[in-house]
Amino acid sequence: MALERTFSIVKPDATKRNLTGKICAMLEDGGLRIIAQKRIQLTLAQAQEFYSVHAERPFYDELCEFMVSEPIVVQVLEGENAILRNREIMGATNPADAEEGTIRKTHALSLGENSIHGSDAPETAAEEIAYFFAGLELVG
Ligand code: CDP
Ligand code: MG
Repeated sequence: MALERTFSIVKPDATKRNLTGKICAMLEDGGLRIIAQKRIQLTLAQAQEFYSVHAERPFYDELCEFMVSEPIVVQVLEGENAILRNREIMGATNPADAEEGTIRKTHALSLGENSIHGSDAPETAAEEIAYFFAGLELVG
């Protein structure tokens, strides 16, 4: 087991429905510590850059439009195996496939509007944290 950090976003469908607190509670109850957090609204250029890995996918434009449609809450989470643990707490990308008790099963509206983002690997976690936070903002 290793203490890790991962990057998380409470997505627009969730901030719009005032679910930020409920989602943070699910992350904390799942054993993760929120060591940095801020509410921001992305520009389209920032959303496109953040999701550039998906630029060739058919859902890219819709995803970027969605991510700028309302404020988001960006977070750094810390805990044992935080990257994998966070993915477990989030549940599968499509809420229809997500396990009971996961954030996406409980709160997501659809495959696109699925309430939360989480990094998928150590390299992307480090990149995504650095995209949104300065080192001084991480208070572990
Ligand atoms: O977010 P996650 O890592 O689970 O999934 P992804 O494959 O990295 O896709 C990023 C995001 O694109 C998803 O969370 C969905 O919001 C969206 N997406 C979509 O709208 N339609 C798909 N077929 C796949 C993903
Ligand atoms: Mg992903």
